[in-house]
Amino acid sequence: MFTTLIQDPPAAATPQGPDYATGIATETDKWGQLTKLASTFDDVDGLFYFTYVVCIFFFVLITGALLYSVVRYRRKTYDQPAASNVTHNTPLEVIWTVIPLLIVMVMFAWGFKGSLDMTYVPSDARQYKATASQWNWLFHYPNDPAKSRNELWVEIGKPAEFLLESTDVLHAFFLPSQRVKRDIVPGRYQSVWFTPTELGEFHLFCAEYCGLDHSKMYAKMHVVTAEEYADRPWDTFDDSTPEAAIKSGESIYQSACYSCHSVDGSKLTGPSWKGLFEKSGDQIVGAKREVIAGGATQTVTVDFDYIKESIHDPEAKKAVGYENANMTPFKDLNDRQIKAVIAYMKTLAQ
Ligand code: CUA
Repeated sequence: MFTTLIQDPPAAATPQGPDYATGIATETDKWGQLTKLASTFDDVDGLFYFTYVVCIFFFVLITGALLYSVVRYRRKTYDQPAASNVTHNTPLEVIWTVIPLLIVMVMFAWGFKGSLDMTYVPSDARQYKATASQWNWLFHYPNDPAKSRNELWVEIGKPAEFLLESTDVLHAFFLPSQRVKRDIVPGRYQSVWFTPTELGEFHLFCAEYCGLDHSKMYAKMHVVTAEEYADRPWDTFDDSTPEAAIKSGESIYQSACYSCHSVDGSKLTGPSWKGLFEKSGDQIVGAKREVIAGGATQTVTVDFDYIKESIHDPEAKKAVGYENANMTPFKDLNDRQIKAVIAYMKTLAQ
């Protein structure tokens, strides 16, 4: 259930993505243990380990009795008659019915209490929204226009409720450290809540196979103090200087684009960003590209309008060679953000 976490993803899996391993090592598990608990939902752990121990106990008991009987009462010669004609034993059958019944009733009561705790959201919970798309997460903060992608900040000790929605296919919101997991079904809202109890960084996974880059659809949750939270660390956009704009553009790339677009010319789901702009003397100008629009091939010069259209309406013009690639529209990116992305693209010019 909550036991499986990727420990060491292959290096090639996340060439440019957020650093998978840094700072989160204590969260990963070994030998079927649960990951480190960082929320108030400790019933999950108690029930998990109770079930685990009960299963091991009965596995050893039943398999042991079977193996013992196979050896002890085996037929030793071909003509040996049956050793016993006993067909049942009422006291024994009552025991092996009543004891397991009591054990599963304990499991039921424990699990029911735990699921009630997960159902009733405290009235002081902050309400966030998480939007899942192929293949990234967009987080909305309560009463805050700034959003963040693939990185999330919550305050320690403060209940957090998440309204979950999908823009395309089935995904699942899985925070192993908080012991919460919920499928996100397109066309309907789901919700989960938890109270983080440990400062630090934690994995958020998509736990439902959602297409080609499902394995790259993870995010990092920062649990921070009230003071750090009040600083709104998710709002990192800055285009006050050209350098800041490039950095902001790069961070948008890292959070939204890296899973489908390389910056080194290699071919991923979508075209590489390297070469979108090229050096011409000491100028950086848009390159010419072959695209398919309305079924016909045409040549465009890469500029703000083309990039903006490709971000907001990826189907309008599709790069030749990528006709079958499907991109999620990123309609929430505004002109300033797109200009920052272009400033970053220009640093890749050759
Ligand atoms: Cu989204 Cu798997």
